[in-house]
Amino acid sequence: MDLNGKAISFSASKNGSLRGSADIPGDKSISHRALIIGSLAFGETKISGLLDSFDVMSTAAAMRLLGAKIYKHNDGDWIVSGVGVGGFVSPEDIIDCGNSGTSVRLIMGVASTCDISVTFTGDSSLRTRPMKRIVEPLREFGANVYGRNKNTLPLTLVGAKNPLPIDYISPHSSAQVKSAVLLAGLNAPGETSFIETTLTRDHSERMLNAFGAKIKTEKTKEGWVTVLKGHPELKAQNLRINRDPSSAAFIVCAALIVNDSDVFVPNINLNPTRNGIYETLVEMGADITFENQREDNGEPIADIRARYSPEMKGVDVPENRAPSMIDEYPILACVAACAAGRTKFFGVGELRVKESDRISSIANGLRKCGVSVFDDKDSMEIFGNGAGSVSGGVLCESNLDHRVAMSFLCLGLASKNKITVDDVRSIDTSFPSFFTLMTNLGAEMRREPL
Ligand code: S3P
Repeated sequence: MDLNGKAISFSASKNGSLRGSADIPGDKSISHRALIIGSLAFGETKISGLLDSFDVMSTAAAMRLLGAKIYKHNDGDWIVSGVGVGGFVSPEDIIDCGNSGTSVRLIMGVASTCDISVTFTGDSSLRTRPMKRIVEPLREFGANVYGRNKNTLPLTLVGAKNPLPIDYISPHSSAQVKSAVLLAGLNAPGETSFIETTLTRDHSERMLNAFGAKIKTEKTKEGWVTVLKGHPELKAQNLRINRDPSSAAFIVCAALIVNDSDVFVPNINLNPTRNGIYETLVEMGADITFENQREDNGEPIADIRARYSPEMKGVDVPENRAPSMIDEYPILACVAACAAGRTKFFGVGELRVKESDRISSIANGLRKCGVSVFDDKDSMEIFGNGAGSVSGGVLCESNLDHRVAMSFLCLGLASKNKITVDDVRSIDTSFPSFFTLMTNLGAEMRREPL
């Protein structure tokens, strides 16, 4: 995807209900980790259900440059031949992570304790995103990182020759920082520990454990402490990736706000470190059920059914829930616009440093649509006027942010007049089948001339 090229604009408008079942693609976070950890294992890891999106392909390309062999089998499964912990080689070219913060932060983590040099870059959005949060702990392992001021990409990393394990108390609630530290700790002797005040998504820990690493998380009075023993021999696995709760949220939320809808999304990952959106929707009074709850490949999953919910009410979303729904605030803001009363998001400053400044992107678009929104540094309030109240009839800017683009398209299905999104190309970074699934459910979405 070339975000420097020509924009592609799409509109969404009201045209009856959303009905049917949708097969959401594989989880993005788990897909990145499957490729990275598979590349660090000996033997062939087989992955089914990998998300085939631009972000995940950025990770695959990086792993190849660092020495792993990765290909897609005819049956749709992916095969990764790993090089073992510490086995990465200096790449022949720079590593371009495109739009993907997860790729760059996790891969810098692994590279930091290998005796290699790598230059990382990304697209115009990724080049503005903060990297100090990983550069600081990675320097403690003994890595050197060089770049322009402010620790933004491009950055050149020179991995530690003799890495030291670290004990890191994270000032950020970030699974990317945690994963960078843990992946770095794999090639350091002794124990690396990571302390966070709120438990962030734990897919790295679950997957490292499945590959044979010794890793434990405990809640202590200091916070959640994860301890990893260095130099494990990771063994190739057969992985099945369950479906992405963040992508599912768009379809579920669209069903809740579009008149007479009833949708079913099976096999969705409902890891407690990811399910804050669903908890919040239930609190708002959404008609949503979690059927057939079970465990699949080390992760809790369920089938979700969502029906039109015209009686939803605004709620307060507490700060400590933010890590478990950090990617879902844009679509939740659109649901809040269709609920009655005030919804307030507390402690969401991290949204300002995502693929776009999501607080501004969402606040600006909602205001254009006729919704009252108040935002400050790390909170946001949406004043909803109930089902069917959003006027729409405007052009919203995605700011090249996939989740902002999908959120406004979903809102367009429930607003009085169509909503056009200026550029939807970024949707391919995380959810390439979004348009197909939505239109199969009955959504009216069409390409617009610019
Ligand atoms: C991710 C962690 C989150 C999330 C991102 C994916 C991950 O970022 O927003 O989309 O896979 O670890 P932060 O760690 O910056 O919160």
